[in-house]
Amino acid sequence: MRFPMEPFRIKMVEPISMTTREERYQFIKEAGLNVFNLRSEDVLIDLLTDSGTGAMSQEQWSQLVLGDESYAGSRSFLRFEKMAKDLFGFKHILPTHQGRAAENVLFSTICTEPNMVIPNNIHFDTTEAHVLFNKAIPINCVIEEAFDPEIELDFKGNMDLSKLQAVFDKYGFDRIPMVMITITNNSGGGQPVSMKNIREVANFCKKINKPLFFDSARFAENAYFIKMREPGYGDKSVKEIVKEMFSYADGMTFSAKKDAIVNIGGLLALNDDEWVEKLKVKQILVEGFSTYGGLAGRDLDAIAAGLQEVTNEDYLAYRIDQVKALGTMCLDAGVPVIKPLGGHAVYLNAKKILPDMKPEHFPAWGITVALYKEYGIRGVEIGNLMFAQPDPDTGEIVYPKLDLVRLAIPRRVYTESHLNYVGESVIELFNNPGIVKPLKVVYEAPLLRHFTARLEELDQ
Ligand code: F0G
Repeated sequence: MRFPMEPFRIKMVEPISMTTREERYQFIKEAGLNVFNLRSEDVLIDLLTDSGTGAMSQEQWSQLVLGDESYAGSRSFLRFEKMAKDLFGFKHILPTHQGRAAENVLFSTICTEPNMVIPNNIHFDTTEAHVLFNKAIPINCVIEEAFDPEIELDFKGNMDLSKLQAVFDKYGFDRIPMVMITITNNSGGGQPVSMKNIREVANFCKKINKPLFFDSARFAENAYFIKMREPGYGDKSVKEIVKEMFSYADGMTFSAKKDAIVNIGGLLALNDDEWVEKLKVKQILVEGFSTYGGLAGRDLDAIAAGLQEVTNEDYLAYRIDQVKALGTMCLDAGVPVIKPLGGHAVYLNAKKILPDMKPEHFPAWGITVALYKEYGIRGVEIGNLMFAQPDPDTGEIVYPKLDLVRLAIPRRVYTESHLNYVGESVIELFNNPGIVKPLKVVYEAPLLRHFTARLEELDQ
């Protein structure tokens, strides 16, 4: 498959600094074998995340000048609010400085007692952490096929309704304040959720009178997959599909750093008039007044412009095909990646690349270290180090079903030649797996340890 033509021209450039292999060996050692500790200047191709790393358009940059920085009731907020209401259809729009801030406001308000339960298809790491931090229990109810990287399904992010029902049976109605669906499902490989599944979960929630919220960081990518893959949606516009998706939800959290193509921002939106009053109090405490929520007026304007652009179908075709072309390059060379290819990233399946390495030696993490050391590419582990948890009963460490390296593609940033280099490097690593070393953790924090952990090679 060929890489798609970029539907834009490049007007401003950011130099990439070149490093030698020897220099990178030193840098990663100093970083405690943790790519989060590297200086971005020492990275050649940065695929750590697609979050906040996109290139803004000329329209977005021009909006910055129009930012109204008034503390309350700014024009920027009104533009942002109108755009978000038009697109998502919710009654109340609360800006936040990013997605996890919306999660913080939401979960700290609704998890009123210990041991409440939040079901999701798969919680993203910050979502899971906020649920846990508020003494609640995050439970993943994604379909079982999501854990088999080989199974090709159009909508591998779907919720399994029988698992959702089982959560209600086990924990009881009163302990579950809401149900969540993450679109697309980042931790499961950037896989979309179908409209049919959304509708079914919504009907389930409606019947028992529980609110349904979307974690909507990549809502436009999800809508594009629905257009491409779901019967009956091929002739609908992405905007229409987005409208329908959100018509089934009672609220949303949103990291604007993804599908609003801005460097910072987020929002919390909902219809409920009672919840919103409580949420606004919390928002003012931790984010700022309800018309700026931790953002500058100009940020709100850039988000409004980004929300307008992200449903453009030429953009989305390019975006999804760029990921697909990189993934196809890997697959054609036999590199095991999660199938089907998802929306924002290619996920390498470390268990298959390094079948003999023990989970406690962090195979996927080891691949991120090798990709940086050898090729200057920064990916991220979404696997054993990020998600391993002690079993609550036995204390034994339980590793996640998938140990992945995510190569997330920033929006509108890298071209075909950059991604060709990435593909070639991944293939070379796959053919020389001995360059990946078993690792041990020598420092870790109690929560979200992957951000600050320090590791060493095992035989040191
Ligand atoms: N939900 C999902 C599905 C996400 O992917 C993220 C962030 C968040 C919530 C939190 O948003 O970063 O604005 O606070 N994901 C980034 C990533 C960090 O690399 O996938 P945030």
